[in-house]
Amino acid sequence: MKIFLDSANLGEVQTAAGWGVISGVTTNPTLLARAGAKDFQAVVAEICRLVPGGPISAEVVSSDTAGMVQEARELADIDPQVVIKIPVTPAGLAAVKQLAAEGIRTNVTLVFSTAQAILAAAAGATFVSPFVGRLDDIGQDGLGLVQEIVTVMDTYDYSTEVIAASIRHPQHVVGAALAGAHIATVPFKVLGQLFEHPLTAQGIERFQADWEALQGNK
Ligand code: E4P
Repeated sequence: MKIFLDSANLGEVQTAAGWGVISGVTTNPTLLARAGAKDFQAVVAEICRLVPGGPISAEVVSSDTAGMVQEARELADIDPQVVIKIPVTPAGLAAVKQLAAEGIRTNVTLVFSTAQAILAAAAGATFVSPFVGRLDDIGQDGLGLVQEIVTVMDTYDYSTEVIAASIRHPQHVVGAALAGAHIATVPFKVLGQLFEHPLTAQGIERFQADWEALQGNK
């Protein structure tokens, strides 16, 4: 499973890219607002530079097909790495279909059911993003949805890749991997938590102390 960073914060993107573990980035209007990214296009261009070759998702905000396609073309012009995030609505999937014909990649977002994922794949989505945490928040099984969508994509040989999104904690990442997700898009805080284990910290401390004691004994 690949790991994407779910962030529009350039400092976070730079740090996570430096760790060598991310192969793409997803943004959304909330993340851009949180990052204070007034010059949205410049931020997307910089993210592309920081994560070379990786798919970088940028979301449209129009609600009609023509508006979405227009926005998508402008975003795709920023860099070939840009993938257009589009909500799973009838207008959105019509846009996905048109963009696929133009060779522009899409990430169908705000997916909360397998039925919606099937429609996204049928329209030619490159990626589909089920929202794990938001489903868990309302007492439903977010990772169960990921597993169900992966099963359907595999059964019917859809090329659409599944991105487990709305990740809240490290167990969501592990669960997404076990469910067969192609990608998990992970917030910076959770990405950092993935490194942590008390025995790792304890082991480093012990090796350091033993090494220093050895040097002192020379
Ligand atoms: C990414 O594609 C999604 O927009 C993001 O993971 C949503 O996360 P949230 O539910 O924490 O806002």
